[in-house]
Amino acid sequence: MDLRRWLTGGVDAIGEWQATFWPFERHPSLRVSDEQFASAFSTFTERLRENYPFFHPSYAGQMLKPPHPAAVVGYLTAMLVNPNNHALDGGPATARMEREAVAQLAEMFGLATHLGHLTTSGTIANLEALYVARELHPGRGVAYSAEAHYTHGRMCGVLGLEGTPVEADDAGRLDLGALDALLAGGRIGTVVATAGTTGLGAIDAVHEVLAIARSRGVRVHVDAAYGGFFTLLAGLDDPAGLDEAPWRAIAECDSVVVDPHKHGLQPYGCGAVLFRDPDVGRFYLHDSPYTYFTSDELHLGEISLECSRAGAAAAALWLTFRLLPPRPDGLGQVLAACRRAALRWAQLISDSDRLELYQRPELDIVSYFPAAGAQSLSAIDQASARMLAEGMADQADPVYLSTLRVASSDFARRHPGIKLDRDGARILRSVLMKPEAESYISQLHSRLEQLAGA
Ligand SMILES: Cc1ncc(COP(=O)(O)O)c(C=O)c1O
Repeated sequence: MDLRRWLTGGVDAIGEWQATFWPFERHPSLRVSDEQFASAFSTFTERLRENYPFFHPSYAGQMLKPPHPAAVVGYLTAMLVNPNNHALDGGPATARMEREAVAQLAEMFGLATHLGHLTTSGTIANLEALYVARELHPGRGVAYSAEAHYTHGRMCGVLGLEGTPVEADDAGRLDLGALDALLAGGRIGTVVATAGTTGLGAIDAVHEVLAIARSRGVRVHVDAAYGGFFTLLAGLDDPAGLDEAPWRAIAECDSVVVDPHKHGLQPYGCGAVLFRDPDVGRFYLHDSPYTYFTSDELHLGEISLECSRAGAAAAALWLTFRLLPPRPDGLGQVLAACRRAALRWAQLISDSDRLELYQRPELDIVSYFPAAGAQSLSAIDQASARMLAEGMADQADPVYLSTLRVASSDFARRHPGIKLDRDGARILRSVLMKPEAESYISQLHSRLEQLAGA
């Protein structure tokens, strides 16, 4: 699609709508001349060049990429109106779009019933899930894997809940034996299973966590902020296909979080939380004398902890889902390419003398380290840091990676031959979240082999 054409189309569409109202004078205090703007804009665009090239496949670092152009046009067009999805009074059109897009997310996870809404981030979405966990099991704590996102420990602190990390197994998944032993103690009210850990992309065995939790009367929340859209690959007849069991079990869990601003092609400001039981809406009950007056229909602010929220974020997601719906033949194709890229690269690394896999990728995160001379953790740590720095500093052929700090015990479980001469080490980590990675992987691999051998 032609971004310039549709950005203009958005400005025109809103202008035409505004022209249907009685004309009025814009206030002179807001006036800015094109000359003034040109000067500020030139400094602004120059400042933006300080960014790393998140759009390019040579950026193989963190979970970052620009949104789909459809999301950009949807966001900017709706932003010209600037609706607030807190209440139907603030954003009637975009609040309805939000409910439709959230229903599509619920369908993607196979939820038969749901209550859900968008949030500004995965952090806030998880906070809401843990808030409901606390209301349902007052006085009981929350368990999560030691590999879960740090937000769970932090938010337990915010909510005054006892948070208990559970050890992870050799593949970075929540250890089921340790979980069972912990739940036997009766102190835990909710378990968080992570479907795609932030560091390694490991998928906790949601189905087994669910069975253990249910046998002890414990709830299950799934943090699929990063991994959630990979459910579209569950059971797929494709090299990218994933084992169905953990993904199908999400439909039976109590809540799930997914971030459209990660793998849903959206700009930042778009997380989502969904509860299986719509009755949990009762924990959000509050009175607002200034809102909720035009309709008896449910206002999104009545079922969320946040107040003001960008209606433009819902608009962008709704428009994107019209074109690339959260189905295997829509958005699923994007995720399949990312996972195939990760699998192909893992094979190239396994065949390489210069690089070594830390562990096999489950989704699209590849973890690896320079193998040449890698006898000790300090050598690996230094070589990883050197590759990261030299890759970014190379003006002619730059490459952008990220590092992951791993504990020496975790390293030893996967690579017993390495001398543990320090507590932990940095290894390299690449999130291949752009589908273009698939056709770029040989180039990326050769570049990293060069850097590793330098
Ligand atoms: C599994 C998981 N949960 C939660 C978060 C936090 O999400 P956000 O950065 O949108 O607040 C992340 C971020 O990477 C994540 O990967």
